[in-house]
Amino acid sequence: LDNGEMRVPPMGWLAWERFRCDIDCAHDPKNCIRRVHPTFLSKQAYENLFIDMADRLSEDGWRELGYVYVNIDDCWSSMKRDEQGRLQADPKRFPGGIQKLARYMHDRGLKLGLYGDMGTHTCGGYPGTTLDKIDLDAQTLADWEVDMFKFDGCYSNATEQAKGYPLMSKALNATGRPIGYSCSWPAYQGGLPPKVNYTQLGEICNLWRNYGDIQDSWDSVLNIIDWFSENQAVLAPAAGPGKWNDPDMLIAGDFGLSMEQSRSQMALWAIMAAPLFMSNDLRTISSGARSILQNKMVITINQDAMGIQGRRIVKEKNDINVFWRPLSNNASALVFFSRRTDMPYRYQTTLGKLNYTAGSYMIYDVFTEKTMTLKDSTSFVVSVNPTGVVMWHVSAPAKWNFRQFYKGGRR
Ligand code: GLA
Repeated sequence: LDNGEMRVPPMGWLAWERFRCDIDCAHDPKNCIRRVHPTFLSKQAYENLFIDMADRLSEDGWRELGYVYVNIDDCWSSMKRDEQGRLQADPKRFPGGIQKLARYMHDRGLKLGLYGDMGTHTCGGYPGTTLDKIDLDAQTLADWEVDMFKFDGCYSNATEQAKGYPLMSKALNATGRPIGYSCSWPAYQGGLPPKVNYTQLGEICNLWRNYGDIQDSWDSVLNIIDWFSENQAVLAPAAGPGKWNDPDMLIAGDFGLSMEQSRSQMALWAIMAAPLFMSNDLRTISSGARSILQNKMVITINQDAMGIQGRRIVKEKNDINVFWRPLSNNASALVFFSRRTDMPYRYQTTLGKLNYTAGSYMIYDVFTEKTMTLKDSTSFVVSVNPTGVVMWHVSAPAKWNFRQFYKGGRR
C-alpha cells in the first residue's frame, strides 16, 4: 500500500502469541490485557502490560534498533459499542482509554497498534466491524491517534471480506492519519491464488497474514517456514516496500524454542523480509534470546531498503536447506538451515554452486561475527547444528588500493 508507511518491514511487539486473551486481572495482574490509569496507584502501573512493554522497548535498546510498535491484539474492547455506536476500550482494564495509551507511546518515540475484525465478532468474541461500521471505526482509530491497525477476519464470509478489506483501506486513507494497515484476509482464504489476489493486496494493505497462527513450538515455526518456502514462487513477488507477507510473530524469548531454533526463526524471518513483531515478555527475557533479537546484522538484512523477499535456493536430500536474499549494494544474505535432529552437520559446497559468479567475496558470519574472504570456486564447509542455522552476509570485497599499498616502493 502506497501510503508512505512501512517502506521496510515494521518492527515491534505484539501481545497475542504470548498473552492471548488473558483478561483475568484479578488473578493474573501482571499479564492481563489492560492499562492501569497512572493516577490509580504507582505500584499498579508496573502491572500494566503495554506500559511495561513500552518502557522496556525504550529503555533496553530495542527502540534504537527499530522495534517501535507496541501492538494490542484481541480482547481490548468492551463487549458493547458506546451510545454513538463506536468501539470502546474495556472501561475496567483500560480506564484511561486508547488515546492516552497512544500518547504514552508517542512521547517515547514509539507507535501504537490496535486490533479489529472484519466480521460480526473478533475471533475472541468481542465486537467486530461489519461493512456498515467501517467508516466509523476507521475514524475512531484516527481520533485515538493509533498508528497501525490489524484487521482480522473471523465471522465474515469471502464476499464480505472482498468488500470490507478494500473499503477499510479507503476509510483509513480518508482519515488523513497515516495508519499502517495489516490485513488477515489471505489467511482466511487459504493464502494462495486464485482465491487470493496478491496484486490487489499490495495495493490496499501494508502487510498481510497469509497463513495460520504461530504457536509457541518449533513444530509451528517449521510448519510456517515450510509453507512459505513451498509457495515462495507466488509469495515472494508480492512483497516490496510498503507491502509485506507476514509469517506471524517472533517467539524467541518464550518457552517453545531452543537458542538454535530462535536463531533459525530470526534468520529466516530476515530472509523473508518479514515484519518483526516479537510476542514475548520483555520484562523477563533471557540475555540469550535478547542478543538474537537485537543482532544488528540480522536486523539490517531484514530491513534492507530494496525490500526483495528472499527464497529457498537449495533443498538437499540430507535435510540441509539454503536460503538466499539479494540486498542493496550488490550484497546478499545466505542461510544454511539444518532440518536434521542428529548432530552438527558438516555441509560442503561452493559459492559458485549457490549462483555466485563474481570471483571473490567478503563473508560476515552474522551470529559468530567472524569475517573471511572466499572465492566462488573455493570449496568450504559450514557446520550447521540440528534445527539451527549458519547465516552469512555476503558482499564484494573491499578493493585494495594498490597505489597506496605500494607507495614509496617495496622495501
Ligand atoms: C486470530 C488471529 C491471531 C489473533 C487472534 C485473536 O486467530 O490470526 O493472530 O489475532 O485471532 O483472537
